[in-house]
Amino acid sequence: MERRVKGCASLRGEVTPPGDKSISHRAVILNSIAQGRARIENFAPGADLGATVSCLRALGVGIIEEGDMLTVSGAGREGFREPPDVLNAGNSATTMRLLAGLLAAQPFLSLVTGDESLRSRPMYRLIQPLRLMGAEIWGRGNDSLAPLAIKGNRLKGIDYRLPIASAQIKSAILIAALFAQGTTTVEEPAPSRDHTERLLRNMGVNVESDGPRIVLIPNSSPLSPIDVHIPGDISSAAYWLIAGAIHPNAHIKVMNTGINPTRSGIIDVLLQMGAKLRVERERVVGGEPVADLAVESSDLVGTEIGGSLIPRLIDEIPLIALAGAFARGTTTIRDAQELRVKESDRIGATVKELSKLGADIDGLPDGMVIRGGRKLQGGDCSSHQDHRLAMTLGIAALVAQGETVIHDAQVVEMSYPNFWQDLERLTQRI
Ligand code: S3P
Repeated sequence: MERRVKGCASLRGEVTPPGDKSISHRAVILNSIAQGRARIENFAPGADLGATVSCLRALGVGIIEEGDMLTVSGAGREGFREPPDVLNAGNSATTMRLLAGLLAAQPFLSLVTGDESLRSRPMYRLIQPLRLMGAEIWGRGNDSLAPLAIKGNRLKGIDYRLPIASAQIKSAILIAALFAQGTTTVEEPAPSRDHTERLLRNMGVNVESDGPRIVLIPNSSPLSPIDVHIPGDISSAAYWLIAGAIHPNAHIKVMNTGINPTRSGIIDVLLQMGAKLRVERERVVGGEPVADLAVESSDLVGTEIGGSLIPRLIDEIPLIALAGAFARGTTTIRDAQELRVKESDRIGATVKELSKLGADIDGLPDGMVIRGGRKLQGGDCSSHQDHRLAMTLGIAALVAQGETVIHDAQVVEMSYPNFWQDLERLTQRI
């Protein structure tokens, strides 16, 4: 599907982002391991979560969906069954990697595949620690790629340093650690999103965090199911935060958004760039900090980002590049080589597509340099089959002159199926 978006005269109104994708994956997977029934409210829509739910069902978990409410009847640690067919994680690395942690401990064979993009993403980083824990796990391409074959085993705890900050690999290890004998310690170069740790703690598991180091001590009692109300996804909210800041006539309020400090780097960067952004009505919902965010047209200045900030905004970097194109001076993004192995090569794809619209942007091996101040012109763009690219281009189109065509725009369905409808609603044309 192609989507045509014209530059708009103003952006006004309130928007509520969909439920957080990362927390939704974890809430349904961890409750599947628990003994008993849990309700999950405001469960994230989209194909990525659909993949997690169907894989869990194939493993014997009872899941009832009613709108955005899910009822999960946990299998308990011992209640999973061998899937009758290959499990398909679709486009979702979170599904594949977190489930691999669970499957590594099951006494049966599982085969896990994904779409073309997921089958090109690195898996040795997952295979290595799970093997150290005792799992038998193999991948295509000399253990570098999916499909994966996993023959679960009795696992033992490990002391592991992740070579790169990755919440997916950290979570896979922590999930495997729930089934292992002995303590597991994971240390990252910088802290990544900590939703797994928060949920596990609320479910009665002994998990201690000390900055980038997490220690999990498993016990034999079953995990307690936990009802969760999922906050809005800051990675989806971010599209409207950037739109509000770079559009010359904007006033947007983004409601009910998770502002967990391991995810809120985008707020820090926007403030650093001079955005008129207010964090309002801060509260805690289901163990996660939540707020409403008000943003309006701003005069942005360029900035430099890198280091431990990167894992706190990893999925928002294409948007930060777009903000850089509207800022005074130069914006430099470093230490973000992980972007090369996301749903697309997000450095290459962002540089290519924003250049087509007239942005002055260059790629670096681990980031981008954007010189702000050039006016954007509508153009003919591709999403590279990447939901975050499609949405970034949708926002760029709102501030470009003329019309932009975005090919393969339906890919927003991975995380934010109503994105184009929300965009239309906030757009007021003269
Ligand atoms: C996610 C972790 C991040 C992020 C992805 C979701 C998660 O990936 O990019 O969109 O839910 O754990 P990495 O763990 O590979 O950095």
